[in-house]
Amino acid sequence: MTAHVLSVLLADGVATHALPKSGRVTIGRAPDNQIVIDDASVSRHHAGIDMGPSVFVEDLGSANGTRVRPREASTETIELVEIKLGVGERWELVVNEPINVGAALCVLRLATDEARAEPANARKAGSGERPDLPGVIVKAQETKRVYELASRIAQGPINVLVLGETGSGKEVLAQTIHRQSARSSGPFVVLDCAGLPESLAESELFGHEKGAFTGAAAPKPGLFEAADQGTIFLDEVGELPLSVQVKLLRVLEDGTVRRIGALAPRAVDVRVVAATNRDLAVEVKEGRFRQDLYFRLNGMTLTLPPLRARTEELFDLAQLFADRTARVMGKKPPALSRHALDALEAHAWPGNVRELRNVVERAVVLCVGEEIGPEHLMLETAARSVPGRKLAGLSLQGDLDALERARIEAALSKCAGNQTKAAELLGMPRRTLVARLTQYGLTRPRKK
Ligand SMILES: Nc1ncnc2c1ncn2[C@@H]1O[C@H](COP(=O)(O)OP(=O)(O)OP(=O)(O)O)[C@@H](O)[C@H]1O
Ligand SMILES: [Mg+2]
Repeated sequence: MTAHVLSVLLADGVATHALPKSGRVTIGRAPDNQIVIDDASVSRHHAGIDMGPSVFVEDLGSANGTRVRPREASTETIELVEIKLGVGERWELVVNEPINVGAALCVLRLATDEARAEPANARKAGSGERPDLPGVIVKAQETKRVYELASRIAQGPINVLVLGETGSGKEVLAQTIHRQSARSSGPFVVLDCAGLPESLAESELFGHEKGAFTGAAAPKPGLFEAADQGTIFLDEVGELPLSVQVKLLRVLEDGTVRRIGALAPRAVDVRVVAATNRDLAVEVKEGRFRQDLYFRLNGMTLTLPPLRARTEELFDLAQLFADRTARVMGKKPPALSRHALDALEAHAWPGNVRELRNVVERAVVLCVGEEIGPEHLMLETAARSVPGRKLAGLSLQGDLDALERARIEAALSKCAGNQTKAAELLGMPRRTLVARLTQYGLTRPRKK
């Protein structure tokens, strides 16, 4: 009997687990499972897999369910019908057919597939990957312009504000600035300002002395001290509470931090790269962001274009992600078919590069042969073709449509109804915009 492995794919990567020849393997978030999946969508004891001549999966009463795809339904078309297993219901797992355990995609594979794996091909000439920045694709005119500016700025001391839609690569750019600066041997420290409670933000950034407040049993340096001689990346800086903004400004102005409860300030030498997908100018106007801090952070603004405005990078990015995922899974990197590329080009990518990465990673897992086809990408066409049935991705499509519609409305209102300008702002051809206006019933844009 051949040995099996289970590949588990989440948004941040793929893990492959060896499976025994017989007996039960449990999957869940709790550490006592044989296969631990650390993701909020997975229940503590989510599912069991029974190994033997045939392999069965069973849901153990999970909150988000174990979902499988009946084989008959997915033959000719690219629609996938999903079924949620009832508690205790057993389902035969077939090699290379994915199931969902919460948000994780799990695929049973033959261990021999791993043995056949080859190292990923060296990157082809003409790929947009910058030789000095492995793993970063810079090919479109606008991206090149941003990265060239970034290299120049990196040499100097100024703070940088990085703007761009979600998933457009703001953190990658911040890292690049760090790597290309004289500080590259120093630390690169990341702080996500969203989801940081006001009470914690201050001690997180600036540290505290022993006894500064209840629970401060030992002194603790803050992130600014940790980033000394390096770069600090303040993600979602627009979310910082006003009280912390004041203190941050002081640090930037005198180059010193004072730990909470400390008598004397300490000198720190840190470059700040801040990112936001809010419009900070508007935040300033409405009193939610301090203008003086905005000027301090904004030594230079770099704006990353959305992925839909740099489609010439789609192929290189997709191939990069496919190669990387295949390598992690120990399988031969698949190529992208012509039709798959067409499908990538037709998609609007509201989630930008991150969305592309997720789509491609899933495709590599779903793809059995040597080539990724559109059916593995599971992009919107799958859900659009047969409405009214419970299809994978249908509700996601609804969300994406709503998002796109809202973006279009916002752009039109910003451009006072001028479709040419709005299309430019959205980075879509005017013809596409006009088609979307009809599709969403927005044919008579508001005029100011
Ligand atoms: N130019 C690029 N080349 C290769 N990979 C990229 C590039 N830009 C972004 N990525 C990848 O896309 C994903 C999202 O990038 P990143 O985290 O930098 O985006 P972000 O703008 O900070 O997103 P968010 O707004 O959600 O914080 C990451 O996996 C990153 O590695
Ligand atoms: Mg980010």
